[in-house]
Amino acid sequence: MSAKQRLAAPEISLIVPTYNERSNIAPLLDSVRAAFGDIPWEMIIVDDDSPDHTFSEVARLAREEPRLRCLRRVGRRGLSSAVIEGALVANGGVIAVMDADFQHDERILGPMFDTLTGTGADLVVASRYIEGGGIGDWDARRARMSDVATRMACLLVGNQTSDPMSGFFMVRRDVFASVIYDLSQQGYKILLDIISSSQRPLRIEEVPYVFRTRQAGESKISLMVLAEFLFLIIEKLTRGLIPPRFALFCLVGSFGLLVHLAVLNALKLAGFDFLTAQVTATSVAMVSNFAMNNEFTYRDRRLTGASFYAGLILFCLVCSFGALANVGVAEIAIHQIGNWSIAGLFGAIMGAVFNFSAATSLVWRRQRRRTYETANRP
Ligand code: GDD
Ligand code: MN
Repeated sequence: MSAKQRLAAPEISLIVPTYNERSNIAPLLDSVRAAFGDIPWEMIIVDDDSPDHTFSEVARLAREEPRLRCLRRVGRRGLSSAVIEGALVANGGVIAVMDADFQHDERILGPMFDTLTGTGADLVVASRYIEGGGIGDWDARRARMSDVATRMACLLVGNQTSDPMSGFFMVRRDVFASVIYDLSQQGYKILLDIISSSQRPLRIEEVPYVFRTRQAGESKISLMVLAEFLFLIIEKLTRGLIPPRFALFCLVGSFGLLVHLAVLNALKLAGFDFLTAQVTATSVAMVSNFAMNNEFTYRDRRLTGASFYAGLILFCLVCSFGALANVGVAEIAIHQIGNWSIAGLFGAIMGAVFNFSAATSLVWRRQRRRTYETANRP
């Protein structure tokens, strides 16, 4: 390829999210080069500060290949948000998204691009579930899981695509830009997020491919990723009323209730008086709620070291005010409605919403921006 072609403005920007994919990067770059041929492209790797230093491998290769760039995010995790941020720095009129582990067949990138430009579609999905596609050598359990997830996704987006869970697709940049404020950004399901966020039905085309086995490294799919998927569905079905973080916060809270009751009963058996037992159970539940929220609900803003303890104290304070809000609202409701359960429920909802908002804005608030000077120190 000539120097001129190399510097041509890209028509297509390939976004590849990575976490510990160091050894896949060089072969991936080669196969992407071959796949695009004459189409001017750029490749943006969005790496979440991988412990295996995937980002430095990208930087090394980028010295020889100006079409390759790395966006390194520090203190952040998440496939969807990585893809979104990569797409926001893309220059091509078309945005493609693909995994780094060779499970997505890069040889169909060309045909996908031709389909998008040839049909004037908004979006081209690489699908495992149409004629010519397949799920490769997945075991029965993983195949069943994918099937269930696909059906649930169809609850949201109907039958607009045969493979809403695909992480392999191409979308026109203006279409992506039109949904940017509505994206949930949580979890793995960026395609589902885009389709379900669009105000108008998108024109979707599909190209089949067979899912391959991972080349190197390991999958990051986990129970947490599945939970995030469920919460994305809840958020979209409630039109944003219940954000995933809030759902998770409530789940942690319910678990905290179990912890509370367990401790209370244990102390009762051990012969303690009710007040001591109740105070201890409340404290244990608060600490365990804090630790679990820190681990799961706010894992992208996880507090460590001294901030962990400062956060814990603040969290307990916030929860005390939450309890006041709870009782206050329940008190009003009991006079209006008269039903204990409904009044109690209103109180609990008030408490949960209060705790959640206060915890999000005070305890796990977004990191302060560093000054220009410290940010640039080596
Ligand atoms: N930046 C970033 N941050 N990248 C991530 C993160 C993260 O937190 N987690 C995973 N990745 C990258 C991986 O390095 C890989 O390139 C890609 O995202 C997919 O991750 P895998 O861990 O390999 O996912 P998978 O193979 O289980 O799932 C894939 O296939 C599914 C099809 O069933 C994904 O593409 C799913 O979106 C897709 O639904
Ligand atoms: Mn994979």
